[in-house]
Parts: sequence; C-alpha cells; structure tokens
Amino acid sequence: MDKLVVRGNSSLTGPLTVGGSKNTALPLMAATLLAEGPSTITNVPDLRDVRTFSKVIRYGGPSVTFDPDAHTLSVDATTLQTPVAPYEMVKKMRASFYMLGALLGRCGQAKVSLPGGCAWGPRPVDLHIKGMKAFGADIELDEGYVHASTPPSGLEGGTFRLDPVSVGATINLLLAAVTAQGSSKIENAATEPDVVAFGRALQDMGAQIDGLGTRTLEIQGVDALNTGTFRNTPDRIELGTFILMAATASPPGTPVQIHKGTHEHLGPVFKERLSETGVDVSYGDDTVTVTRPDELRPVSIETAPFPGFATDLQAQWTVLLGTTDGTATVTDTIYDDRFKHVPELQRLGMEIDVTGNTATVHGGPSLKGAKVMSTDLRASVSLVMAGMLANGRTDVLRVYHLDRGYEDLEQKLHHAGITIHREEYDEFAEPDLERIE
Ligand code: UD1
Repeated sequence: MDKLVVRGNSSLTGPLTVGGSKNTALPLMAATLLAEGPSTITNVPDLRDVRTFSKVIRYGGPSVTFDPDAHTLSVDATTLQTPVAPYEMVKKMRASFYMLGALLGRCGQAKVSLPGGCAWGPRPVDLHIKGMKAFGADIELDEGYVHASTPPSGLEGGTFRLDPVSVGATINLLLAAVTAQGSSKIENAATEPDVVAFGRALQDMGAQIDGLGTRTLEIQGVDALNTGTFRNTPDRIELGTFILMAATASPPGTPVQIHKGTHEHLGPVFKERLSETGVDVSYGDDTVTVTRPDELRPVSIETAPFPGFATDLQAQWTVLLGTTDGTATVTDTIYDDRFKHVPELQRLGMEIDVTGNTATVHGGPSLKGAKVMSTDLRASVSLVMAGMLANGRTDVLRVYHLDRGYEDLEQKLHHAGITIHREEYDEFAEPDLERIE
C-alpha cells in the first residue's frame, strides 16, 4: 500500500494547476453510452475513479481507451450487449450507479448492483430508484441488484421531485429521460456546476433539456443521441482545496497563483466565508491568486447544496480553522456523520469537539506530525493539508482514498514548495517495539 510522507513547516509558494473535474468526468463517461459510436472527452484527470468507471463501461461491451498524458478518454459505444454493472465494480465507486440511467436509456434494461455503504455513513439511492419508477421504469430488487426495464416503446416519462436535492439522482434521471418516449420533469433538481456541464454535453448530443442550472428541469425525449467530443470542466473541489492550502501554508504576504480553475464553480458562499477570514483572494479569468495574511480570523461554515458551501470542502476548512486564534464551527447539513477525519486531526494536535453534525474547532495549538489514516477522499486531503502545517513528519496512510480524486497531488505540491513524497508500506507489518520503547 502507498502512503504520503509530508514534512511540516515547508512553505507553499506555488504555482499550482487544477486538473479536470472527477465529478463531471464520470457522468460525461456515462453519457457517451447513449450514442451508438465513438465519443471523446478531453481534460479527463488520471484518477482511480476514472479507471474504475472505464472498467464498468467495458464490462457492458463498449471499448474505452484512455491516454493519461493527454488526458483524453474515448468510448466507442457502437455495441453494448451486456447491460450489467456488477457488485465487484459498483462497491468500489458509488458513481458506477450512473449505469442505471445510462443502460436504461440506451438498452431499455439494466441490472445494476446497489452500491452499499460508504465510509462516512449511509448514502441511499432510493431517489434514483423512485424517480426511474415515476418515469415509467419497471424496477425490482433481487440479490443486491436493481433489475430495471422500460416498456417496449421506451420510458413514458413523468414528473419526480427530489427531496432532498441530489446530484447523483439528478444525473441518473437525466440519463434515463433524454431518450424517453415522452416528456419528463425533475423538480428540486441539483444545480451543481458538474450537473450543468453534464447537461450541456447531453444537449450537444441532441438532448432536449430546459432549465439547466435551475431547480426545475424539463426534458423532451428524443429517439437517439449523437456521438460527440466534449471538454471536461476543471475540478472545483481541487481548486477550493488548493485555495485553502495556500491560505494556510504559504508565507504571509506572498501571493500564490493557482491556474486553470473556474472560480465561478466555487459558488458565492465559499468566497464570502473565505474573504471573512481575512485571506486576500483575487479571481482572474484563468488564475486565482491567494495571499495569506499574518493572522486568519475564525469563520463558521455550514454546508449546503450549490450555490452553498460544498460538503467536499468542509474537512479542509476544518484544518484552516485550526490555524486561527479562536473558535468556530463546521456544520454539515448534507451528510450528518462526515467527520471521520476528526480523530486523525486530533492525533496531529487539533482541538475539535463533534456534536451531532457540527464540529467545533478551537484554533491555536501548534500541530505535531504523526501517522494518520485516510478514511475517505476529502478526509485524506485534509490530513495532507494538516501535515503541511505540523512540526516534523506526518505519514498519511491508505492514500488510495486520495488517489480516487486527486491526480498527482504529491507532485503538484512538491513543485509548489512542499516537502512530500510517496512511499510503499506494509499495512500489516509488526511495529519495531525496540524503537518505540
Ligand atoms: C455527489 C458527489 C459528492 C458530493 C455530493 C454532495 C459525485 C460523484 N459525488 O455525491 O462528491 O459530496 O454529491 O454534494 O458527484 N440522498 C438520498 N437518497 C438518494 C440520493 C441522495 O437521501 O437516493 C441524500 C444523501 O444521503 C445526501 C443528499 O441526498 O444527504 C445529497 O447526496 P447526493 O447529492 O445524491 O450525493 P452524491 O450524488 O452521491
């Protein structure tokens, strides 16, 4: 297994470059299945999740080729003879559940494994299933699989309200509805930039969708979609992560440049809270410049669907609060139990109390390096971020979580001034007791 070894107290001087969005690339890959023939997506990050989803797609019959250096992924969906997504693949990555909408839309039938649990608590897919039923799909659950089919003439379409609003269900329902026989409406739809970019790609393929970026989506089904070439959007969570790293680990007064992000995709609330901390951020067309002040102010945040503060940035914000001289809270209204990083941050010396869905961070104490365990994707990057601020050496174990969503993080940080490298280790090795005593 791999770990990242971070030396604290090195300065992040930049520049940093943002890669393609994981959460947009995956639905774009699913969309290519709706067109018989070859489609290409550019600016695709070389991530474990992209490789996992490529395998899921290949299982059905299409070919997938990925050039990681060029960041170009091609799917030839001329044939799709096996409309199945097996458990062994879906359990590794919940977004594989997008195969339900894609296979129903393309083949009129699908057998897709239920994803099961997630590292930070239950993440149901009930809305995906209820929505498909509302659009006319026949759905049965058997032996952990969703068996779905449409009437012979295709999905009739219908109206479905998402409660709560869900990114994944909006995407899955769009995949199913764009080739339905009739029209469909999704109420309380997600407006995340990833959903909008995906919807625009579907429009480019010939789908008829009104209301992208609003809470109501109206879809008029078409017989088939066309193949195409799409450019994936930059990863807004990677951009937000880099901004928070620069706000905490750069030399005060020295600007750090972050290139190739789309700052509008961060949403207004993130930017407002950030400016309240006292960080000086300027948002250019292609470059965000972050200048750390001598002291950061503690600012509480509450996560919410877009345009609110992204839940995928709350663990990183928690680390930022640790560097302030005061107390503030992080409340996650999307996931009640997304605080698995807290005990690990406490091992580094952070003072955090968790009650319900709120973490209270008492900033101030200096951190000391330690071995810490990644539990999920965003938790693991918060540990790297904390390691950059701690005295001494921090080993972030089980870094495979991080590899799901951050491409070449250690190389990017190394080139930006941080002392960090990757090492293999044996998870089950006995500790060297003599050295411990
Ligand atoms: C997506 C993102 C993830 C992000 C999350 C919230 C991808 C691949 N992943 O996940 O990084 O953290 O949005 O912004 O894009 N819910 C239900 N029933 C359902 C579906 C969802 O109750 O059928 C609930 C969830 O438990 C959660 C809320 O809806 O409380 C939002 O989840 P959702 O937007 O669906 O998250 P994902 O699409 O899984």
